[in-house]
Amino acid sequence: MHPHGTHSRFLAEFAADVRAGLCREGQKELPSRYLYDEIGSALFEVICVLPEYGLARAGERLLRRHAVDLLDRIARPTLVVELGSGSGKKTRWLLEVLAACQPTTYYPIEISPAALARCARELGDIPALRLVGLEKEYLDGLREVAARRQPAEHLLVLFLGSTIGNFDRTAGVQFLRDVRQLMLPGDSLLLATDLEKPVEQLLLAYDDPLGVTAAFNRNLLGRINRELGADFNLRRFRHAATYRTAERRIEMHLVSEVAQRVHIPAAGVRVEFRAGETIWTESSHKYNLEEVVAMAQQTGFVCVEQWVDHEWPFAQNLLRAV
Ligand code: AVJ
Repeated sequence: MHPHGTHSRFLAEFAADVRAGLCREGQKELPSRYLYDEIGSALFEVICVLPEYGLARAGERLLRRHAVDLLDRIARPTLVVELGSGSGKKTRWLLEVLAACQPTTYYPIEISPAALARCARELGDIPALRLVGLEKEYLDGLREVAARRQPAEHLLVLFLGSTIGNFDRTAGVQFLRDVRQLMLPGDSLLLATDLEKPVEQLLLAYDDPLGVTAAFNRNLLGRINRELGADFNLRRFRHAATYRTAERRIEMHLVSEVAQRVHIPAAGVRVEFRAGETIWTESSHKYNLEEVVAMAQQTGFVCVEQWVDHEWPFAQNLLRAV
C-alpha cells in the first residue's frame, strides 16, 4: 500500500506523535490527521451521509450549483490541485465542467492511501481528465505540483470540506500563507469554511445518535492498537463533543471512563489515565464571512467571491493570489 520505505518512516512519525501527545503534562492530545486510516476514511464517508452532518452536503450543493460561475472566474488553462481529496466525490462537479472545456490534470494530495485509491476509482471515468495522485503532506504535494507547472498554466487549489477548521485560527492563517508561497499571482484557492450556527445543531452533527462519529473517534485508538501494538480497551473510552464559545469551535475528545494504564510498545511508553481524563482528538473551527475576507487579506489573497448555502450555513470562498 505504501511505496517501499515510506511505511516504516510513517510508522516512526506516528509513534513519535502519539508519544508526544499522550506523554505531555496537562491535556493529552492526538493529531486529527491520524483519524483517516482505511476504517476511519470509510466511517467519515458514512458521517457525510448522516442527516445530522449537513456540512458535506452543503459543500457539495455549492460546488454543483456554482461550478460554471467559479470556472468563469479563474485563470486558464489551469491545473487543479486538491489538498486532502478524500473520496473525491464532491470534486466531480467541478472537474466534469472543467474537463468539458479543456483537457484537465487533477492532482489529489492525500496522506491516506485508502482515500487516494478511492478517489482514483471515483473520478477515473471523467473524460479528458488526467488524474495524478500524490501520497504526500499538503504542502509537500503542492510544492511538487508547483515545480511541474508550465509557465502558461495557472493553479486552482481546492481546500474543501472546511478542513481548515482543524487548525487553530492562527495556524490556519499561517497555513494559508504557506499555501500562498507556493502559488503565483493570478492563481486561485477555493477555500471551504463551515459557518457559525446554533450550538445544538453542531453538537448533533459531531455526536450523532447513531454513534458513527463516536466510532470514527474511537477508531483512532483502534488504529494505535493495530499499528503500534497498543492495548487500548476501546470500550473504556467514550466519545464527547463540546462547543467552545470563546474559540468558536467544536472539540472532539475521548474520555477515559476509569483510571487505567495503556501500553504502546512501538512508541516505547506506558500512559496513565485518570477516570474522566480526556484525549483531545480534533478541533473544528466555525467561521463568519467577514473573517474569511480578512484572513484572505492577511495572507496574500483577495477574496473575490463567497457562495453561501443557507440550508446549512457554509461558504465556498474563492481567493485570488495577489
Ligand atoms: C473533514 C475535518 C471537515 O471537522 O467537520 C467530521 C471531520 N470530524 N465529524 C469536520 C469530522 C467529526 C470534518 N472535516
